[in-house]
Amino acid sequence: MLKLALFAGDGIGTEVAGEAVKVLKFLLDSHSIGYEIEEGLVGGASYDEYGKPITEETLKIAKDADAVIFGAVGGPKWESLPIELRPEKALLSLRYDLDLYANLRPAKIYDELIDASPLKKDVVRGTDMMIVRELTGGIYFGQPRGVFDLEDGQKKGINTLVYTTKEIERIAKIAFEIARKRRKKVLSVDKANVLECTELWRNVVAGVAGEYKDVELTNMYVDNCSMQLIRQPKNFDVIVTTNMFGDILSDESSMVAGSIGMLPSASLNGKKGMYEPIHGSAPDIAGQNKANPLAAILSAAMMLRYSFDMDTLAEKIEKAVEKVIKNGYRTADIYSNAPGTKLVGTEDMGRAVIDELKK
Ligand code: IPM
Ligand code: MG
Repeated sequence: MLKLALFAGDGIGTEVAGEAVKVLKFLLDSHSIGYEIEEGLVGGASYDEYGKPITEETLKIAKDADAVIFGAVGGPKWESLPIELRPEKALLSLRYDLDLYANLRPAKIYDELIDASPLKKDVVRGTDMMIVRELTGGIYFGQPRGVFDLEDGQKKGINTLVYTTKEIERIAKIAFEIARKRRKKVLSVDKANVLECTELWRNVVAGVAGEYKDVELTNMYVDNCSMQLIRQPKNFDVIVTTNMFGDILSDESSMVAGSIGMLPSASLNGKKGMYEPIHGSAPDIAGQNKANPLAAILSAAMMLRYSFDMDTLAEKIEKAVEKVIKNGYRTADIYSNAPGTKLVGTEDMGRAVIDELKK
């Protein structure tokens, strides 16, 4: 029995998570695998109902589950709330409270979607990388933090970048383990020329590399990395980096891969995981059946693989998505008017994946 939590959230989050769950239910039912799904409100939806972005009860649902399926949170309606009450806080609390320190963000380009990338075809063709982002430490959670009054009437804003040896070691290990199953290259990204904390990062990662002699380790400063990602994206295999650098570089990698609407993610602590598309709630297209559900559907595939060791079923979903793309189905974000393609909505895209799974 798979114990799942479903937090669809706001905006297109509800639409794309809805399709992911339909695909998942179809697949599990057709393989007679039992599951239970408990739903909860998060983000703006929770704020509107309970006055906070996530409640203790909802956090408990997540803690009790084997895996959490997450849509997206946020929207203009809640943007002016104090930071503690903003929808994004739900996501940060879930990551922190469940200690989901390892965030995996694969970015690969489908040949058929090469036109969807704003970069030149020859540059992006063959791109296949995995960003391993530290998710529960760094500047996102470091103390002290806040905005403080100074005696002269000015204000002072503080956030703190902190990492301990242990935090760096555990994320580095994840990156090396993943690299072993791929092209055996780890790139650690830091700003060690300026920030002591990331000099520690570099040194600790180098120490961990000693246990993985079969994997090649290189280092890059984050500014250079953001340039090389655009210049030669296919050179990258596994990138391991801090919470904030990973946030930024993963958005950049999504453009290399065509559309942010295609990229799934897993946030893990061992087998326990939360699975979400890397895109946000896209209020501009919410409720219009326009959003691309493939990132959410691919996140469900990651869930089967990482939380339940159901690699074969995960591959089934991934193959079905590939086939649907091959067959020309395109939501607006990946539509380029190429011959043999058709523009479809969120629900039709989800249905097309299920139809493929039926074959
Ligand atoms: C992401 C998002 C989040 C982050 C926001 C919504 C808090 O940008 O998952 O990349 O900054 O981690
Ligand atoms: Mg981000």
